[in-house]
Amino acid sequence: MKYSVGFRVWHWLNAFVVLGLLGTVFLRKTFLSWRTNSEILMNKLAEFDIVVTAEQSKVLAKAVRSGMWEWHIILGYALVFSVAFRIYLYFKDTSVRESFSSLDLHKKAVHILYYIFYATLFFMAVSGVFLEFYKELGVSKDFTHDIKEIHELVFNFIWFFVVAHIGGVVMAELTKEKGLISNMISGDKKI
Ligand code: HEM
Ligand code: HEM
Repeated sequence: MKYSVGFRVWHWLNAFVVLGLLGTVFLRKTFLSWRTNSEILMNKLAEFDIVVTAEQSKVLAKAVRSGMWEWHIILGYALVFSVAFRIYLYFKDTSVRESFSSLDLHKKAVHILYYIFYATLFFMAVSGVFLEFYKELGVSKDFTHDIKEIHELVFNFIWFFVVAHIGGVVMAELTKEKGLISNMISGDKKI
């Protein structure tokens, strides 16, 4: 496999964007969780004799989270461009690849996983933009809520892919495919 410059740059920028998106989700669900933080805020404020209701402390906790979550949206737009660029590469790329039928069973499975991953990335990009613009699109809250549930469900496949992929390429590098990772950095040959 000989990767073109464009393809390698795409791979690393895309990896950065997807890892960033996963990072924002991680923070939202852990250190910046409004559930945990609203309790902390309520208890600490009580120590200063300031009494706030559960509803008010929820507003405070969400305000603390919001600056971080903006990055989910910024990286989300970057993902839209990344997916679009990958589609462009599909038609225009000069990377030299083996044909699918010449691959062994293991590599066929790996490639099928990539295609499933591309489909899920496409879905995340479309559903994410939908969630951001549901008001402008004039759709109901119920329908938006359903989309959000699916967006959140499919997120599980994204992190599964990332863990399996990084584990997989490191294993391959250490065993039968020495140079695989440096190939994704330097390319096999200048294209
Ligand atoms: C940070 C560590 C990472 C390393 C060392 C790495 C390395 C590699 C390597 C060596 C390949 C080529 C494998 C092959 O020929 O089958 C590859 C392909 C790929 N990587 Fe990564 N990767 C990393 C992170 C990511 C992340 C976070 C994503 C998620 C967005 C990602 C998405 C992909 C995709 C979709 C392909 C398939 C490209 C194609 O053939 O169409 N990679 N990666
Ligand atoms: C790899 C891609 C993505 C992943 C893994 C991901 C993951 C998630 C997860 C897990 C949630 C639910 C968070 C929670 O309620 O705890 C979420 C919500 C959301 N995501 Fe994404 N997302 C991705 C891409 C995008 C994109 C491309 C956009 C749009 C630009 C976007 C916009 C949103 C919005 C607007 C919400 C709802 C936030 C709210 O209800 O406050 N996401 N995302």
